Amino acid sequence: MKIILLGAPGAGKGTQAELLSEHLSIPTISTGNIIREELKSGTEIGLIAKEYIANGGLLPDEIVIKIIEERISKEDCKNGFILDGFPRTIPQAEALDKIGIIIDKVIDLEIKDETIIKRMSGRRVCEKCGASYHLKNNKPKEDGVCDKCKGTLVQREDDHPDTVKNRLKVYHEQTEPLKDYYKAQGKLNILEVDGRSIEDTQQMALSALEA
Ligand code: AP5
Repeated sequence: MKIILLGAPGAGKGTQAELLSEHLSIPTISTGNIIREELKSGTEIGLIAKEYIANGGLLPDEIVIKIIEERISKEDCKNGFILDGFPRTIPQAEALDKIGIIIDKVIDLEIKDETIIKRMSGRRVCEKCGASYHLKNNKPKEDGVCDKCKGTLVQREDDHPDTVKNRLKVYHEQTEPLKDYYKAQGKLNILEVDGRSIEDTQQMALSALEA
């Protein structure tokens, strides 16, 4: 199954992608995580990404499309995958269609901007594997340590309130139109998840995938 997770920054896409990946035994592809890896390794893409991430803007479409094309051509994607953070613009969605990728379902996590701003300040991510936690809602077993790989948990540079506000603005302008794009293809499933727990959200997502 090929799934796209849509939603504003902090809507819970990464969290749900990890859970769905375990449940469905298909990989999650997070463009955000791939780009952060490039940044950490100091590659050419990483150097370009630095400024965009710091401002909460989107990287140029052609760079991200190339990243995705390469990733989904790998062996582990042959039975499907979950896209977390891609597509984020209409040209990115058109590129997927153009290379012949048939998406089965698009799950859109709907949540209010105010809730997002509150959530982001509590998010901590593993600097090694990228797994996402929350100081209150999704605590690791041991403070500051990733349950999965024992890596150190840190706050993301772009989770500061001003950057989050800009990421939300970019989301409403450039990514939200994708809802209409996938609605027109009959693939959009809107889940109203504001105030829902991570577990409730997962149940809603699984029901939408089975429908
Ligand atoms: P990316 O990493 O994709 O950032 P994002 O979309 O802004 O998404 P987030 O990871 O911030 O949020 P999420 O929805 O995954 O939330 P999470 O599950 O962690 O991208 C980063 C940057 O890379 C972009 O700004 C851009 O510059 C660049 N980029 C990436 N893709 C690109 C593309 N395609 N094109 C161009 N540029 C691109 O949840 C958030 C917090 O809430 C966590 O702490 C979590 O534990 C908690 N939480 C989750 N669910 C719940 C719940 N139900 N109740 C309470 N708390 C919850």
